[in-house]
Amino acid sequence: MQKEAKYKEFLAEMKTLISGETDEVSVLANISAAIKEAFGFFWVGFYLVRSEQYMHLGPFQGPTACYKIPFGRGVCGSSWMEARTLVVPDVEQFPGHIACSSLSRSEIVVPIFNAGGHVVGVLDIDSTELATFDDIDRQYLEQACSLITDTLYTVA
Ligand code: SME
Repeated sequence: MQKEAKYKEFLAEMKTLISGETDEVSVLANISAAIKEAFGFFWVGFYLVRSEQYMHLGPFQGPTACYKIPFGRGVCGSSWMEARTLVVPDVEQFPGHIACSSLSRSEIVVPIFNAGGHVVGVLDIDSTELATFDDIDRQYLEQACSLITDTLYTVA
């Protein structure tokens, strides 16, 4: 199936999967599992803002990962600071990239906002291949993150 069609089907399934659920850990755990199952990416997970300085590891699927990421550091911390999606075709070319696994070659990080427009966490997906992610991934994963906002973070 074409990537775009797969994402459309995935988003419809994700809506049903999380509809009416309010527990952050449960919802994010199921979303990371659903993305991993649907697309087979190497690592899929969340880092959650827990203070002004750090995000902490949240629910994920894949190999074990770093516990804490500082504001502005690595791809995740940069996405948090800049409040925008970062698509990294080659992690070795990204200054300050945090290598949780040496197998990771490309990455996409999408910020998750609360209703007040503040970043509350990020969705991070890693691939063992170079240049796995493009604008289609960005577009649909941003839609997925906005569904997360509607489900979990409607109070600013
Ligand atoms: N590579 C990320 C760190 C998280 S892991 O990939 C799971 C980064 O540079 O922020």
